[in-house]
Amino acid sequence: MEINKIEKLDYKKSVVYLLPKSHDLRDLGLSETEIHYARERLGNDKHNLTFNKYFGKFIFLSFLPDDTDRVKLMDKARKNAKSLNTRINDEKLEEIQVKAFGVEKDVVLAFVEGLILSNYQYLKYFSSDVEKKRNTLVAIEVEDERISKEELEKLLDISQAVNYVRDLVNEPYPALNSENLPERIQSLAQEAGFELEVLRRKQIESLRMGGLMAVNRGSKYEPTFSILTYKPGSAKNEKPIVLVGKGIVFDSGGLNLKPTGYIEDMKTDMAGAAAVIGTLYAVAKLGLPVYVIGLVPSTDNAISDRSFAPGEVLTMHSGKTVEIRNTDAEGRLILADALSYAKKYDPMLVIDLATLTGSAARAVGPYASAMFARTDDEIAQKLIQTGFEVYERLVQFPLWDEYDEMLKSDIADIKNIGGSNAGLITAAKFLEHFTDYPWIHLDIAPNAYLSENKVYFGKGATGIGVRLLTRFLEKL
Ligand code: BES
Ligand code: MG
Ligand code: ZN
Repeated sequence: MEINKIEKLDYKKSVVYLLPKSHDLRDLGLSETEIHYARERLGNDKHNLTFNKYFGKFIFLSFLPDDTDRVKLMDKARKNAKSLNTRINDEKLEEIQVKAFGVEKDVVLAFVEGLILSNYQYLKYFSSDVEKKRNTLVAIEVEDERISKEELEKLLDISQAVNYVRDLVNEPYPALNSENLPERIQSLAQEAGFELEVLRRKQIESLRMGGLMAVNRGSKYEPTFSILTYKPGSAKNEKPIVLVGKGIVFDSGGLNLKPTGYIEDMKTDMAGAAAVIGTLYAVAKLGLPVYVIGLVPSTDNAISDRSFAPGEVLTMHSGKTVEIRNTDAEGRLILADALSYAKKYDPMLVIDLATLTGSAARAVGPYASAMFARTDDEIAQKLIQTGFEVYERLVQFPLWDEYDEMLKSDIADIKNIGGSNAGLITAAKFLEHFTDYPWIHLDIAPNAYLSENKVYFGKGATGIGVRLLTRFLEKL
């Protein structure tokens, strides 16, 4: 996708006007008949209207409610952009001009963001008609004196990072596996400008990462532990912000095998890792003045005669012992090792992202991620507020002491599952055992991957986390 700032609309090209419902339609240079038609349709609560002008030129009107809530308007704009994007591609248009009347600059940017994000497709595995299926839209031109070229480029870089993440998450296993994930990271590292170090089996063993090693035991692929570093000279923070992402490239459940209906989309169990990778890409590409480290432990959770087993006791990287009660609670085991490894950086803040529990999805549906925080309230609130702005919303759950009761083991320090209730909370409490620094946990199982064609993301991987964290780090 290409985005350009233009000074003046080209009247030969198609254009979309973005405007509040109450805005005077006579500003748009439409004919009396067109205005009459538009007014009529508006009464029917239509959000987008199309006028077919001549020789393939279209005028689209995209209406926003006369709302004052900026955050809500921004998301309405993204949603309008998605339905408009379908229309644009149905008409086989390659470029579209955008001009707004009577809406704030942020809302215009959100609209453009919605156009880019909804134009994403994952076509890699179709063997025929790929060109026919491919969206035609390749260029967006924005006429708005309040918006600079740099702002548009930034928006494009972040959206691009989101789309890379979606590619990674949509990529099936074993085409994407724990051994070639670092190669994918390396090419992004080179493009954006961050460092990558990869720990292999030998180092993982000598670090005694008992969680990562146990989950990997049934796999025919080697485990990897990728360390992504972005440390610009201009960094405002001396102690790094460490991002940790769950990189299970396929979660079969292990010996506690997942049943049909729960296993099909488990290639997406590395969406946390992908979000961390995408955020490092975006932060480096934008050259933000922040010192950020990404940690990505990766393996599949396979079933074989060598798989780790319920009942066994692991000794983790931190030295704590864990009784395995369910091999499908594997994400917390590899995250635990990464979280205790993060201590060596004396981090200012650690944020982990993981498709950790079905329980989180049952709690909040596909409209939010579950959040847990043991930080200054100010930091937590800042992240929640950013969540509203990018509409990657967060619902905060508690880390009360009482939940620790549910993780008590008869034979080890803790066990790896709680009871049948509050599964998202006991998972977070498990992770907390391996942290001793300001820490936020995001359970993105609810919205990392959508099985229905919803909002501007469409079906499949959403790339959730990238816009949230990049904007959060930008405001730091
Ligand atoms: N990867 C799953 C969680 C998940 C579920 C992600 C649905 C995306 C969509 C995780 O490893 C898992 O299996 N969790 C179990 C935990 C249970 C065994 C305590 C779950 O949620 O059922
Ligand atoms: Mg599992
Ligand atoms: Zn999992």
